[in-house]
Amino acid sequence: MDLQKVIKTAKALVADNKGLLAMDESIHSCNKRFALLGIPETVEARRAYRELIITTPNLSEFISGLILCDETFRQSKRDGTPFIKVIEDAGIIIGIKVDAGEVDFEGHPGEKIAIGLDGLSERLAEYAGMGARFAKWRGEIIIGKDIPSKDCIDANAKSLAKYAALCQEAGLVPIVEPEVIMDGKHPLCRCLEVTKEVLLSVFNQLQLHNVALEGILLKPNMILPGLNCAIQESVEEVADATVRFLLKSVPLTVPGIAFLSGGQPYQLATEHLNAMNAQFKDKLPWALTFSFSRAIQQPVLELWKGNKNNVEKAQAALFHRSKCNYAACRGEYDITMEYS
Ligand code: G3H
Repeated sequence: MDLQKVIKTAKALVADNKGLLAMDESIHSCNKRFALLGIPETVEARRAYRELIITTPNLSEFISGLILCDETFRQSKRDGTPFIKVIEDAGIIIGIKVDAGEVDFEGHPGEKIAIGLDGLSERLAEYAGMGARFAKWRGEIIIGKDIPSKDCIDANAKSLAKYAALCQEAGLVPIVEPEVIMDGKHPLCRCLEVTKEVLLSVFNQLQLHNVALEGILLKPNMILPGLNCAIQESVEEVADATVRFLLKSVPLTVPGIAFLSGGQPYQLATEHLNAMNAQFKDKLPWALTFSFSRAIQQPVLELWKGNKNNVEKAQAALFHRSKCNYAACRGEYDITMEYS
């Protein structure tokens, strides 16, 4: 294991206030988003969309790493250039999603467990050989009546830790993503309580599996009220609750925390990240950045709509959202940026 190389990559991913763009939706999730906009659910449409993203001029000014899914990892530009080469040439670090999605957690109605550990070492070796330098695994925790159970939290944490250990062994930085899902009417304090239990279990399992915390990135949810909760806290309250909680729960040796957006409106996700850095940046032991998918891609997809004549304006939107989130990492985002 070359731990120094892994640590160096982890630091590079969160250096200079840059963030990550998750473009690793599974074929199924990507098709679902395409269907809503009337975009054909085909291999070629997904390829063309991903080509649009990776060829956006100067994306590396704001984005340090791109997370791909297996399909995208093996695709090429229309002119035949492999995507991997395009991304490397742009100076962006390549990541790969390696969980195989989630299935029902047996004996626990309404709960899910991420799968994909079978044959994972071999897959990681192949991805690393082809140019990947980091990986991602997402374990989903659902809030509902009597859930999540401790069994489900611990089982997902254990899988995350096994995956993380295998990644470091293969020379890849593991992005550890335990996502407490936003759907529901639960208040912010319930999200806080569950996320607390989840991170406790995750860091406990990471330790049991001898994962070097200097060589991981944490990708958590922000501390938010459920999407359908009647009381929605202010941007400052969310930022405050999230950072105070993370300061108590995330070891200082972790180099960076890169949030998922979880279905928040894209501008609000940027505002939350900005408020956290504006209020706390000087006091934080780790970088606080983004690893958004929907909160960067949503306006891009809506402009593109599968039409090649819209590529340029969709790329401009991708550049813009990335720039706004980069500003949020410095605590310098301002709403007027949206109109400039
Ligand atoms: O696994 C989920 C993605 O990496 C983050 O997606 O920003 O749309 O929540 P999101």
